[in-house]
Amino acid sequence: MVDPGVVAFYDRHPISAAQILDKVRASRGSVGSLDAADLFAHDQDHYGGLAANDALAAAAGVSADSLVLDMCSGLCGPARYNATRLGCRVVGLELNPGRCEGARDLNRRTGLDGRVTVVRGDVTAAPFADGRFDVVWSQEAFLHVPDKAAMLGSARRVLGPRGRLAFTDWVAGPSLTSEDRALMREGIAALSIVEPADYVAALRTAGFAAVETTDVSTDWIPILKARLAMYRGLREDARRTTGADPHADYVRFYERFVALVDSGALGGGRFVASA
Ligand SMILES: C[S@@+](CC[C@H](N)C(=O)[O-])C[C@H]1O[C@@H](n2cnc3c(N)ncnc32)[C@H](O)[C@@H]1O
Repeated sequence: MVDPGVVAFYDRHPISAAQILDKVRASRGSVGSLDAADLFAHDQDHYGGLAANDALAAAAGVSADSLVLDMCSGLCGPARYNATRLGCRVVGLELNPGRCEGARDLNRRTGLDGRVTVVRGDVTAAPFADGRFDVVWSQEAFLHVPDKAAMLGSARRVLGPRGRLAFTDWVAGPSLTSEDRALMREGIAALSIVEPADYVAALRTAGFAAVETTDVSTDWIPILKARLAMYRGLREDARRTTGADPHADYVRFYERFVALVDSGALGGGRFVASA
């Protein structure tokens, strides 16, 4: 059962297909004849941008022959990047109807709709045949999914015999309090943030063999601060162009989020598991 708060959060998220196209229009003068690369500065909704995609793709062994399932694919920025750079095919599985529609629009505009497709659905019940994918991929999204066992079981089921699951996510440190968790739930619809050891145990229970974990917290801190600056800029843009202030709460939340990461109560983890 999906919490409606997650869909509502992404319905009002500052990054959207329309906002990405506005940014491209402002820098390029038009949104005609787009290449995927024209969007890369704006369409990556995770920490570390294209370099983080490269690191995850290398860890997962994505190649031109791979069929990749991007779980929680959002607007498909990483999917378009991987399809362009590596030549792989990607299927995005995404819950939010507006994000599915936005991703399809951006895929079409960049001529990638043959190689990057989007299916609307919930990652705890991936609507695909057993063993269909070579790689299951996800970035900064599993924190929205409380039923980790169903989600990881679903990932394991759709992977072929030599498949790999590779994902990054926010993870809890021992000092994360229940008030902090409530703040994260309210601020970014983070329904379930677990400690790295919990992810490793859940991966093993789901049937994954080897699991590698990497602490990426120190890489994420400067990125998080740059994000805060970007959201402050989007807030200013909205105030200037519309006179309204729709992103005020989001910016206030983000300021507290940065403090939690600075204190070590929250961190980033990369997990790579073999089927
Ligand atoms: C932070 S965005 C990540 C987007 C993408 N990974 C990127 O880097 O650009 C998280 C996405 O997860 C989606 N999501 C959350 N819960 C989901 C679920 N249970 N099933 C499928 N998608 C989900 C949200 O709608 C949102 O688009």
